[in-house]
Amino acid sequence: MPKALSLVVIGRSLDPEERMQLRNATPSPLSVVAELPTAPQSLDELNRLRPNAALVLVNGEAPLSFQLVERIKQELPETAVVCSSESTGSDIILQAFRSGAMEFLRLPFADAELSAVFTKIEQQVAQSTEEAVHQGRIVAVFASKGGCGTTFVAANLAASIMRLARRHTCVVDLNLQSGDQPLYLGVTPNYSFTDVVRNFERLDDQLLASYLTPRSKGLTLLAAPTELGRDQEVRDDHVMRTLGLLRTLTDFIVLDVPRALNDLTVQALDTAEEKILLLTQDVPAIRSAKRTLDMFARIGYDRTRVKVVVNRFERKPEFDLTQIEKVLETKVYGTLSNDYPAAVGSINIGEPLVLAKSSSRLVNDFNNLANRLLGLREFTADDAGSKSARSWSLFGKRQ
Ligand SMILES: Nc1ncnc2c1ncn2[C@@H]1O[C@H](COP(=O)(O)OP(=O)(O)OP(=O)(O)O)[C@@H](O)[C@H]1O
Ligand SMILES: [Mg+2]
Repeated sequence: MPKALSLVVIGRSLDPEERMQLRNATPSPLSVVAELPTAPQSLDELNRLRPNAALVLVNGEAPLSFQLVERIKQELPETAVVCSSESTGSDIILQAFRSGAMEFLRLPFADAELSAVFTKIEQQVAQSTEEAVHQGRIVAVFASKGGCGTTFVAANLAASIMRLARRHTCVVDLNLQSGDQPLYLGVTPNYSFTDVVRNFERLDDQLLASYLTPRSKGLTLLAAPTELGRDQEVRDDHVMRTLGLLRTLTDFIVLDVPRALNDLTVQALDTAEEKILLLTQDVPAIRSAKRTLDMFARIGYDRTRVKVVVNRFERKPEFDLTQIEKVLETKVYGTLSNDYPAAVGSINIGEPLVLAKSSSRLVNDFNNLANRLLGLREFTADDAGSKSARSWSLFGKRQ
């Protein structure tokens, strides 16, 4: 059976007649995944659902509709946008195309026109799926000792990547027994890995997209099970298939990996293009980091892919970076300053530090780390106020 074409309708709800016409428009099933108002906030929902097509019903708020079309084309270039209106004046049609719509349909729908437009979209989707399956990059954050800041760093690094690269980034909480990411990101998930497990047989990218909890534009969370005892149900193959599907949905995936290395965590680390090993400047953390690096060498991980990052970094003569590098026999890739009040303050209010108006050095440190991983230039204080840094937040803020 051909894969359903996902469609979001914007402007108003469809009436039963229109729904029927749409259903009959293509040979493959057409699934209306959401009906949203003509409002900036709808963009957040679209970013989450990433539908194949968006049908914008242009009504009284024509300028707002066209503004939305422009934003959809910028942020979701792969979503085909179709405008539709009862008014068929040349100015409205022209505006629709100028703002980036691929087609215009007059209302009420004419079956033949509807069918021609959606067949075209269907062909485009099939072609782009064949041409390039989008592959997001996985960054795993882990530590071999508890309390090194894995959860805090994963949340902030993800937020920083999303901000600087202006790409969709998803945090995956692999602390299946008790995930803290919702607290650190300040979200209340309605869905989690439990839903992935329950619906595993029919899991596809669209269904998985609906299980992601949006944090802010471009930043989502796949939460660990929120009900006690549910972690037992999550198998390695559930996680691996989820990560595979997530790569097609988002540009970056940041894994919050629990410290216990087992089959699941080793497999998850294995899939990550970048592995960030966190440690703090104390003997137990340095020793366990060394053990982990030795173990990686034994199991054949490419060591150059393991990036050692010192968290809670302070200038301490007894544990300076050269000493740490000597013990680990590895270069330190980056440091994240120790700023307890800033870190705890941000966790307490559920706002990643890098998204808050904070003057902490940690913000710069996170941005520098993200930039290095992305292969961009070093971050400077000026970037915080620059146009490009702001462009994500033009539409819809955190809800
Ligand atoms: N750079 C930093 N400066 C100051 N405090 C920090 C820093 N990074 C993390 N912390 C603090 O360390 C504590 C532990 O952080 P976090 O929960 O992220 O650790 P973890 O490694 O995920 O722990 P666990 O092993 O329990 O999952 C938190 O109170 C956090 O505020
Ligand atoms: Mg943690």
